Amino acid sequence: MYRKPTQEAQELKVALEKLGLRVLAEVDDGHKHIDLTLPDARINIEVDGSQHLTDPYQILSDLKRTHFSDDLGYDTVHIPNQAIHTNLGGIASALAEAGALRIEGFRKGKDTNIGYWEQVLQAPTPAYQKLFDAERDYLLKSIKPDEKVLDIGCGDGRNMRTILEKTKFVTGIDNDQIAVKDAPKHFSDISTVKVVHTEAVSLPFENGSFDVVTFLMILPNLDTHKIEALSEAVRVLKSGGVLILSTFAETAFDERMEVYKRVKVPIERIEGTKFIFDKSLGANVSEQFSRDEIEQLTKKVGLKAIEWQKVGTLAYICTLQK
Ligand SMILES: C[S@@+](CC[C@H](N)C(=O)[O-])C[C@H]1O[C@@H](n2cnc3c(N)ncnc32)[C@H](O)[C@@H]1O
Repeated sequence: MYRKPTQEAQELKVALEKLGLRVLAEVDDGHKHIDLTLPDARINIEVDGSQHLTDPYQILSDLKRTHFSDDLGYDTVHIPNQAIHTNLGGIASALAEAGALRIEGFRKGKDTNIGYWEQVLQAPTPAYQKLFDAERDYLLKSIKPDEKVLDIGCGDGRNMRTILEKTKFVTGIDNDQIAVKDAPKHFSDISTVKVVHTEAVSLPFENGSFDVVTFLMILPNLDTHKIEALSEAVRVLKSGGVLILSTFAETAFDERMEVYKRVKVPIERIEGTKFIFDKSLGANVSEQFSRDEIEQLTKKVGLKAIEWQKVGTLAYICTLQK
């Protein structure tokens, strides 16, 4: 049912729009209607009557409402009606400036897919730390000296650094500008290491160029391009070569939710166990998979699973042969 904004909320909406902001009114976030939302700046604005400051039960209810918005990556500003009556212009211009600064911060890249992932890497939960340790051990035991390795979705290059302990012939690709700018900083003095800015679905390499392709924690982000990207990985793999894949397991939902809340990734909606984040993140989907689903997907592109490891409830790591 359409709800009309209060007069004060409507006045603020008009003032903000005059300053060039995109403003939505009475947005339903699944828990409540929010008076005004600045979606690009991820700011919610509640324009409150005096009971929001004088009624203890209203105060407690507001705290709870705000908590839901925090979980979705939005922050909330509360403005009393009285302040709108006395200082509408000042409030609108301060909000416009604060909004512009937040949008600029998002554009600088902290709030991209890899930006959030890097926050997880810096302060992992115990379950994620276990995965990162297991991936490291798995790569070290699986990759042989001097093999040519391609790391698809290399991010900041953390796995490339591990692979380098076994072979110096490592190439990483990522479609995120920031990742490809950051990752090479770690390898600037090694001429056999390359980081290429490209799409996983169209790799600029000859057929059969690599002994090993790693596909670590990228499958969850590929949405409708899973088969295309896996086919490309198989194309550049030598016959008999292996693809080492890690991905969230079907039992990972609670662990993932805990981490998304912790780093405040803006969640647009959740469909079953699939998270759809704000589209400003770039790769903005995150999924989890059962062993059977991974086998079905990889079989379609000519891969055969030859080894499996489950890491707690969070993830699978497996080796698939061409
Ligand atoms: C969750 S991060 C994992 C990064 C790294 N593999 C790791 O395990 O630390 C997913 C990475 O895949 C990249 N990515 C997502 N979709 C991609 C695509 N279609 N082509 C290339 N890279 C992609 C993202 O930019 C991001 O760096």
